[in-house]
Amino acid sequence: MDIISRHELIRTQNGHTLVLYVDKQSSEFAEDFFSKLDSKRKDLQKDSLSYIKDFVNKNYQGIKIDTINIMLGSLLVASIAYSPLAAHSDTVQPPKKVQLKTNPSYIVKPGDTLWNIAKKSGTTVDRLKHLNNLISDIIYPGQKLKTHINMVIPQNPTSPSAAGSLILANKSHSLPKDYVPKNLIAPKVPTVKKSKTMMTPEAAAALEALFAKAKEDNIKLTAISGYRSYERQRAIFSSNTSKYGSAAAANQFSARAGESEHQTGLAMDVSSPSVNFRLTQSYAETREGKWLKENAPRYGFIIRYPKGKEHITGYQFEPWHIRYVGKSASLEIAHNNITLEEYLGKL
Ligand code: DAL
Ligand code: ZN
Repeated sequence: MDIISRHELIRTQNGHTLVLYVDKQSSEFAEDFFSKLDSKRKDLQKDSLSYIKDFVNKNYQGIKIDTINIMLGSLLVASIAYSPLAAHSDTVQPPKKVQLKTNPSYIVKPGDTLWNIAKKSGTTVDRLKHLNNLISDIIYPGQKLKTHINMVIPQNPTSPSAAGSLILANKSHSLPKDYVPKNLIAPKVPTVKKSKTMMTPEAAAALEALFAKAKEDNIKLTAISGYRSYERQRAIFSSNTSKYGSAAAANQFSARAGESEHQTGLAMDVSSPSVNFRLTQSYAETREGKWLKENAPRYGFIIRYPKGKEHITGYQFEPWHIRYVGKSASLEIAHNNITLEEYLGKL
């Protein structure tokens, strides 16, 4: 029986907060679930908590969740400190009288700070700044801030490879530390450093076909960066954090370890001699960049971080980063001018 009508994962400093929206009107079962959860008696609470535990195991196994917030409409009714090993003995804290908006935006009131808005909304200052493209902590009364984006739940988060070419790796869907795609190979295409261009066999074959067509059209493409391990991504992110002054600044364009598509073996950063093999937004204006945008979908690739979709993808525009999703998805995504998040949300 489905009493959880919607769920959302929010990244916190050390893990995630899972927000479960329970539809109290939906069924008698929900009513029962709630009265047990509300109850001061631990033996009763146990039933509802085991329902939650099963739900988490089914949908979020392998993801570090430390708090589960239960929402009833726009009201936060319970906040559970969650520990998967001891879910049964966890206690439900008394309902807090906090109004949270299910609508993922917030109008700034006099005296608000990003910190208190983040706290009220169950998110973090970094995330608020990121979602709203804020470069400082300054906000003003009346300003409308996005607090959340509706996240897509991967079909099988415990086994990313089961999702095939539709694996989702983003700021709310991390890949396990030990996830390494099978049979990585280097596609036979022009590159600056071959060892950096590994991909899954299917993606590599598609990239070869795309590059062959480019050559035919007299377009010079170069493969720059393909598969990157979790550890490699950690080192890159850490170096970008030092270089750009903060993790929040780095995270506008560089993924944290586990959140990079490069760990899937399905992504490739592509550049050209005309821009000196750099990864630059001006690539979008070049003949090669335009060709790539136009032709990638015909070979199963999408421009994964498009312009104007930063609030959905979580990253700034990257005209060079192509992602293999398979031909039917790539054509649909490109045709409808949507992102992978939006596409998966519709499935
Ligand atoms: N530049 C992309 C977001 C990455 O770091 O994977
Ligand atoms: Zn990339």
